[in-house]
Amino acid sequence: MNTLFKIKNLNMHYPIIDGLMGNIKGYIYALNDVNIEIYENEILGLVGESGSGKSTLGNCILKLITPTSGEILFNGENIINKSKKELKEFRKDAQLIFQNPYMSLNPRMKIYDTLKEPFIIQGIKNKKEIDERIKQIISLIGMKDEVLNRYPHEFSGGQRQRIAIARAIILNPKFLVADEPVSALDVSIQAQIVNLLISLKEHLNLTMLFISHNLSVIKYISDRIAVMYLGEIAEIADKEEFFKNHKHPYTQALLDAVPVISDKKREKTIIGDIPSPQNPPKGCKFHTRCPYVTEKCKNQHPELYEISPNHKVRCFLCENKCC
Ligand SMILES: Nc1ncnc2c1ncn2[C@@H]1O[C@H](COP(=O)(O)OP(=O)(O)OP(=O)(O)O)[C@@H](O)[C@H]1O
Ligand SMILES: [Mg+2]
Repeated sequence: MNTLFKIKNLNMHYPIIDGLMGNIKGYIYALNDVNIEIYENEILGLVGESGSGKSTLGNCILKLITPTSGEILFNGENIINKSKKELKEFRKDAQLIFQNPYMSLNPRMKIYDTLKEPFIIQGIKNKKEIDERIKQIISLIGMKDEVLNRYPHEFSGGQRQRIAIARAIILNPKFLVADEPVSALDVSIQAQIVNLLISLKEHLNLTMLFISHNLSVIKYISDRIAVMYLGEIAEIADKEEFFKNHKHPYTQALLDAVPVISDKKREKTIIGDIPSPQNPPKGCKFHTRCPYVTEKCKNQHPELYEISPNHKVRCFLCENKCC
């Protein structure tokens, strides 16, 4: 397995600015010492409650925001301190798909111009080359050339997401962050878009970070799964191992909270609210909601323990690998 991204001790602490004086009055600890690798040609699913830091991690990896500290190695090279000019090649290789396709489609631009724009930004001017690639991509996303002359408002949500995906892959990137790409779509359309992403991944040798709070979608699409809680990785494992042998009480709580159609009574919610990332709990960040909490959990911070190859858990229950 080759590593495409190696993320080392990544921190993102958003300053909270005092309106009147402009002083920093605190921080939102959105990412805390995140260490994670993304392997070439895998789909890594990232799951966690709202506010756990999933989008912040995706945006840092794409260098859309600059983290407070840490390293992001892409093919072994740290991209954190690269200038705009140096990042030009990286921008071609690493793209984002948003939850809302309107964000990536200019309503005043015909689809043809929307798909042409990335070439212009990269300084590619050969019209024949551009037109051929656009036609190729339109067919790859299951649409017809006639859509090129139309505007975004003429399409349904699912079709717009297809076009947004086309734009993201038009320059043949190596890596995609898909940030809740199906959450805004009708359930009937979600499977089509998820299947499109899987087939594109196979055809184009893509690597993907797939962010979602929907564990069913994550289960379907991912090769590996990481769980985030208050800006930390709580558990990470290969998909099969994750569903058969998850260890973190938070992972269990997330899985218990998934609605089961055949048995509505089994549906539970996770006890209590996620604490504020502005003032996270001391010790294990999950201790305020954990059914197995001990004194140690309240005072000490657990590491991410490797309990078997490719399976890591941040919980004292797994400290001695005998959880
Ligand atoms: N630009 C910003 N400035 C200040 N705080 C931010 C900013 N972006 C995110 N945050 C805060 O950082 C924390 C993590 O946010 P983030 O959007 O990464 O979470 P998320 O897991 O993607 O949530 P969701 O599932 O709702 O999309 C939240 O408390 C959020 O309010
Ligand atoms: Mg988000």
